[in-house]
Amino acid sequence: MIVDEQRFTLTRIGNEHDFRDQMKRDVRSGLSSEHKSLPSTYFYDDYGSALFEEITLLPEYYLTRAETEILEIFAPEIVAAIHPDELVEIGAGYARKTCLLLTAIHEREAGSLYVAIDVSEGALRHAGQNLTHEYPWLSVKGYLGDFGADLSAVPRNGRRLVAFLGSTIGNLASTQRPGFFRAVASMLEEGDGFLLGVDLIKDEQTLRAAYDDAAGLSAAFNKNILTVINRELDGDIDIEAFEHRTVFHADTGCMEQSLRARREVNARLNAIDLDVHFASGESIHTEWSCKFTREQVESEMSAAGLTMTHWWTDSEERFALALARLPLLSST
Ligand code: TRP
Repeated sequence: MIVDEQRFTLTRIGNEHDFRDQMKRDVRSGLSSEHKSLPSTYFYDDYGSALFEEITLLPEYYLTRAETEILEIFAPEIVAAIHPDELVEIGAGYARKTCLLLTAIHEREAGSLYVAIDVSEGALRHAGQNLTHEYPWLSVKGYLGDFGADLSAVPRNGRRLVAFLGSTIGNLASTQRPGFFRAVASMLEEGDGFLLGVDLIKDEQTLRAAYDDAAGLSAAFNKNILTVINRELDGDIDIEAFEHRTVFHADTGCMEQSLRARREVNARLNAIDLDVHFASGESIHTEWSCKFTREQVESEMSAAGLTMTHWWTDSEERFALALARLPLLSST
């Protein structure tokens, strides 16, 4: 255990070596393949998590405001539908929107436990310290780890509301989503709920502005992945040689973020003994941000054995929260 204060604990899922080994494997395979890519998990070191927090406050980044609007109105309804003993948030980050759910839980005299899972230790400490300070009735258990890995390692403490907000689901490729939904379904028992935040398909101009803001924070955030890799793997990638690119794929409704080499770049990552060559104009894919329709969310959930029971949107229908449960077992 990393932190053990009265109402805030912080535990690592798996161990630090696993995380490092995973990063080494991911970076080696991502940068050696014909179409270079890096997993978006590595955006979120402490600096990246703080930078993403800034993005959520930008005028162009409507996602967080739209999701907050839904929670402000419907958190009581969400909580009433489940009446959870614990709120388990996957990819919690700074957990700023979570207070809306926590307050509603407290008002309904449901549980007093918040479980936060995230890859950033800084973000978890921030969330744990702030929330226990703000809410004297609350206990916070932070789990440090990648939600792609080990959700089953998080112990249960009664009826669960599992939340996955911010449309982080859109950062999983369509090939990864079925496995993720199944992993979530296996965290649930009858009576539990799964609350999913999804960004909805909309016009390209709005999407492009959200992922390529005027102040340049999106670009800085995207480039931070190279800073993380240079630092963790003893590398010398010339970050300034790369530019932030965002492309809308109308056929799939996904935004794609990448970093493009403005000139030829040669780099070396000592920790994995890898030389990498980038041709001028070559790109590293860094993230998908897929956007959804209601039908799509419902069908992806149902393929994993989850039944969508509620769907709430903001007033401009930019963003939605879906609530799902396991189907009731028939009493035979
Ligand atoms: N999870 C965020 C999203 O998909 C990440 C993100 C926001 C992002 N802006 C970005 C990633 C710009 C790369 C570049 O909305």
